[in-house]
Amino acid sequence: MSVSSVSGKMPNVEFVPLGRAKEVKQGVTIISAANRAGVPIGQSCNGDGICGWCKVKVLRGMENLSPPTALELRLMAACAFAPDERAACLTKIAGDITVTTGYW
Ligand code: FES
Repeated sequence: MSVSSVSGKMPNVEFVPLGRAKEVKQGVTIISAANRAGVPIGQSCNGDGICGWCKVKVLRGMENLSPPTALELRLMAACAFAPDERAACLTKIAGDITVTTGYW
């Protein structure tokens, strides 16, 4: 359990190098947090876990994310995700994280 969830503080999602951040409720997906922060993020399958365009690199707080589901594990293998990369549409936030992409 993260420090954030223990304290009751809302998780903070930092988008670098954009200099943007957004507080969200626990259980919100990374892609939803990006949308709420006005941060552009790739997607073509509307969160069905097929395209892999929503891939983000987690710079901090990997332990504050939901474990990959079977669907995400299949996507990660198919799209050759690195160990520090997650599908933003499938990954739920439980505590503070910092993410980036190659196009921000
Ligand atoms: S939006 Fe397609 S896999 Fe996430």
